[in-house]
Amino acid sequence: MTVTVVIGMQWGDEAKGKIVDLLAKDYDYIVRFNGGANAGHTIKVADKKFGLHLIPSGVFYPEKFKIIGNGVVIDPETLLKEIEDVERSGYSMKNLIISDRAHIILPWHKIMDGIEDEKSGIGTTKRGIGPAYMDKSSRINAVRVADLLDETALKEKLGQIARLKETQIRTYGQEARFDVPKIFNELMLFKKKTHGYIHNTAYVLQDAVRDRKNILLEGAQAVLLDVDHGTYPFVTSSNTITGAACVGSGLPPRHIARVIGVVKAYSTRVGGGPFPTELNNDTGDRIRQKGAEFGTTTGRPRRCGWLDIVALKYACIVNGIDDLVLMKIDVLDGIEEIKVATAYQIDGKKTDQFPSSRLAEAEPIYTTFKGWGTLTSHDWDKIKKDKKIPPQMKHYLDFISKELNTPISMLSFGPERDQTISLL
Ligand code: IMP
Repeated sequence: MTVTVVIGMQWGDEAKGKIVDLLAKDYDYIVRFNGGANAGHTIKVADKKFGLHLIPSGVFYPEKFKIIGNGVVIDPETLLKEIEDVERSGYSMKNLIISDRAHIILPWHKIMDGIEDEKSGIGTTKRGIGPAYMDKSSRINAVRVADLLDETALKEKLGQIARLKETQIRTYGQEARFDVPKIFNELMLFKKKTHGYIHNTAYVLQDAVRDRKNILLEGAQAVLLDVDHGTYPFVTSSNTITGAACVGSGLPPRHIARVIGVVKAYSTRVGGGPFPTELNNDTGDRIRQKGAEFGTTTGRPRRCGWLDIVALKYACIVNGIDDLVLMKIDVLDGIEEIKVATAYQIDGKKTDQFPSSRLAEAEPIYTTFKGWGTLTSHDWDKIKKDKKIPPQMKHYLDFISKELNTPISMLSFGPERDQTISLL
């Protein structure tokens, strides 16, 4: 038995989906434990691209159990659409398991998200994630998957919450009228279609542990978007770090054997908030174009910048990373000088600690590396065959690994499954 957690090390979009999809073949259970349809995985299988938001990335292994854990907030419409899309492409969803403790995103969450985001400037995905987690914490205005089972109580609850939300929205100077029977009917349709999938995932995982199964826990978003440990308030509303894998699934921490940190060879961030190594210049544009750095969920252009060792060291310590997977190294092809931030200067003082506030004032101190030119697919075939990384690239990888005191186990140089090299 082995239990592995896969975590994004930056501000999300590290291409974790590709890695989870690759690793999934060796696991029996793939578990999503946080976030909602704010996340987006693009997975390429047999020339077809799938954009998934809620279903775990191991979806293309029909025999594996795919769990949407209690820590996830579920948008019923999005989930139904994903199930239909995947099934239409010929992949069975029979082993999908949805936690009865997961919370449900309702129409008012999306409206509130839009209104509140205008005020905060966080630049959320407007998928209702923040308001849904707020209602979860409020304990009175939330609907969980388990609530779908008692139809009379649900109808009454929805009516009460809808009126409350209409009043709240009015205090923001806007009008909304929620059609409760329609919302109820949509939830009943969701219940009908997902009926066989709903379980308490703590028991499912307890059985998996008893049977010595392999479990892969897949994080959405990333460390720097964690509501406690990220660049608050410019974060998402859930915990995204390793610890959240247990909270959001019901699996006890002592079973975790390995934590893999997925890191892009440069940094990106989408939405507002400080980003010390951001490149507002041609190099940033070049990285965005070459790396296709546009949001899977919202299509927004991602902000691009150099790798940030200060942030990554912090990501390693709060997650307990065992090994790193370095993604999209090919995107840095052809750049003559590649930089990496190794410290910040704040108020004239040098620090190698990631600050809890005033990150916007941090001036990065860079180490510069010579680029490795442009590698063709022929070059990569040879690198794969000989397991010999070109010297300049090796220098870059060794530096990252040494600074973070963590080995790089895999290197990815494109979206395809075979554009990956194992380095250990
Ligand atoms: P929310 O999660 O929609 O509330 O958005 C809060 C912040 O997290 C915004 O800056 C979003 O752009 C960012 N965010 C949420 N999910 C993702 C993701 O999957 N990738 C990258 N950024 C994300």
